[in-house]
Amino acid sequence: MKNTFDAFASEIIANPYPALARLRAADPVSWNEPLKGWLLTTYDDVKAAQKDSRFSAERVKPFTMHMAATKRPELERMGTLLNHWLLFRDPPAHTPLRRLLIDAFTPRAINALRPRIGEIVEELLDPLSDRNQFDMISDFAFPMPATVIAHILGVPSSDVPKFRTWSNDLATVIGNSRRVPDRFERGARALFTLTDYFRTTVSHRRNARTKGVLVDDLIAAQESGGPMSEEELVASCILILFAGHETTMNLIGNATLLLFKNPDQWALLRNDPNLISSMVEEVLRYECAAFVIVRVANEDIEIGGKRISKG
Ligand code: HEM
Repeated sequence: MKNTFDAFASEIIANPYPALARLRAADPVSWNEPLKGWLLTTYDDVKAAQKDSRFSAERVKPFTMHMAATKRPELERMGTLLNHWLLFRDPPAHTPLRRLLIDAFTPRAINALRPRIGEIVEELLDPLSDRNQFDMISDFAFPMPATVIAHILGVPSSDVPKFRTWSNDLATVIGNSRRVPDRFERGARALFTLTDYFRTTVSHRRNARTKGVLVDDLIAAQESGGPMSEEELVASCILILFAGHETTMNLIGNATLLLFKNPDQWALLRNDPNLISSMVEEVLRYECAAFVIVRVANEDIEIGGKRISKG
């Protein structure tokens, strides 16, 4: 059965849930023409697919091979660079790369960042306090996580505005702005710029490393002959920058909007700030900050009576 669920339509981006509920009831495993893939819409199917090793995270490989076959070297190069991201790798290659990042994101490591995160929040909110209005996304939700990530990666916070342009351009390929006409060229340029930026950062920091700064710890791991190549080191810096701030920005924006729409919940939170962590969990559940997870079938797979063909 064909369906008309268009994840890129503005009314769907504003409120996808009624259309998703109809689809889930009528056709829970459905071919989706705009996404050019099968769409799973039930919790159980998504959970099972995420654990099923027949579904691969290596979804950039087919793109790279297609660009090589159609002789588009710039886009093939973009694919080759993206293939170094651990987000787009399967075990066994994924496992050691992921392990190298785990230490930077333990509750202890995140707690150690609290004082600096508090300063960043104050620095951003201070100039807003005497304004009648401000833009929650541009003035706070984007620069806050981006500045924290710049700190984690050991790059200057003055470069944060550049990250926004590069990330927005890269999101035309990896995110959901598929309607941008020259999205591949734009995404490729942004990825090449980010790659040059982090190559330079890595080469500067090789001689002046500080323990506890993620990029320096990764450099140390790479120099000790571990599993991470220089390309993968640079790719991991770009991935953390990209994956960490877009999602967190969406979370802050969603939380703000939901609290405005639900003043009783807003009042509860003001009276008891201990509710903040459960509020964050609830916002993530209620209004997801990352809309879709993509996988490629490594073999023909049957789900809910539908046959998902290899590839
Ligand atoms: C609201 C906040 C966040 C949400 C909703 C979120 C969501 C996700 C999702 C759904 C994935 C899996 C994607 C897939 O398998 O295709 C993922 C992976 C990842 N995220 Fe996040 N993320 C958030 C914050 C962050 C932050 C703050 C960082 C780092 C600073 C980060 C770094 C990563 C990395 C490195 C991966 C790849 C992990 C792997 O492949 O093993 N994320 N994230």
